[in-house]
Amino acid sequence: MRYYLDYNSTSPLASSVKGWLKESELPFANASSIHSSGKASRALITQTTDFLSELFNAADFQIFYHSGASEGINTIIKGWCLSKEKAHVFCSMIDHASALKCQELLERFAVEFHLFPIDKNGNFDKEKLIAEIKSCEGPVLLNYTWVNNVTGVVWDLKWAEEIKRETGATIHVDSVQVPGKIKNWNEINPNLDYYTYSGHKFGALKGVGFTFFKTDFMPLIHGGGQQNGKRSGTENVMGVYSLKLALEEMLSKSRPEELSKAKMFLENSLREFLGEEGTVVASNSPRNNNTILFLQRLEAPEIVQIAFDQEGLELGTGSACSSGIQVPDRILLAHGYSKEDALRGFRLSLGPFSTLALAETIWPKIEAVLQRFRTVQ
Ligand SMILES: Cc1ncc(COP(=O)(O)O)c(C=O)c1O
Repeated sequence: MRYYLDYNSTSPLASSVKGWLKESELPFANASSIHSSGKASRALITQTTDFLSELFNAADFQIFYHSGASEGINTIIKGWCLSKEKAHVFCSMIDHASALKCQELLERFAVEFHLFPIDKNGNFDKEKLIAEIKSCEGPVLLNYTWVNNVTGVVWDLKWAEEIKRETGATIHVDSVQVPGKIKNWNEINPNLDYYTYSGHKFGALKGVGFTFFKTDFMPLIHGGGQQNGKRSGTENVMGVYSLKLALEEMLSKSRPEELSKAKMFLENSLREFLGEEGTVVASNSPRNNNTILFLQRLEAPEIVQIAFDQEGLELGTGSACSSGIQVPDRILLAHGYSKEDALRGFRLSLGPFSTLALAETIWPKIEAVLQRFRTVQ
């Protein structure tokens, strides 16, 4: 039996999507074609757009679909900057690479990038950030990660609203890790400018995502002018419709309280077991309902990872492996952990429909793996 515990990385297809894919007649026509088959494809996209707009109460926003959040985030950050003079971009040190890596290209266009630090609990100094934004000459875009993908730390959208009110900055919210993982996951703050989502994180097909936008930006992909010119290219009808199916299922099946119980059971068990030999990162901060980032100081991480996998436990590791050499996790380093500890992170991220019963089933297996290394020592 295998236990997939890496939902922040990606999720299995929702059963509604799987069921639909088994249908014999799937839409194939180009949604821009005006024959009947084309109109049938267009209807599925329109249905999805209407559904998303209603689900997220996003009537004030327009929407564009893309290949996933990396493209959506690149489009907003680069597309916003390229339509401005003397632009500044603020990202936190723990933002996703799809935001941080825009720096190299944008600096060639005289955009100034600012990385703001976070503390051991994954929080930032709001007043300091406001002062820094205010000191910039020129327009500012802030990339604001609502839920961190590695630690699960939640940054309140009210703080982003306050930053906008105080500074006039334009704010893009990276919402990738939100659906199904916090209470009221579909409540967005209408006063911010952009929200980006990736379908495969919540059970839709891979290679599709969407961004709500209120503020204009320069498109990155030019061509046939689809999506009002905001993202050219033949539209991904099946991908787009899978967003609707997966979110309908999320809406009807997600039980935030139950998920939170499952996470807290595992987190408390881990903390109690590890004692001084490990830690749960950012455990004092508001965090989402499915993510636990923990360090274990019992054994080399690659050995523990193999042991987890042999037990059927599929967890994520923070430290990237480059050419066979483990590299300390930049997220743990940003939280102030040592290089050694930054090699020892494991991320356990539950699925949105996980239950306390599942947590009670997998804990003895996790404990048995960790216990093995304690005994060896
Ligand atoms: C917070 C966050 N932002 C952006 C992305 C990029 O999403 P994708 O890989 O679907 O393009 C991810 C993916 O892990 C993420 O977790």
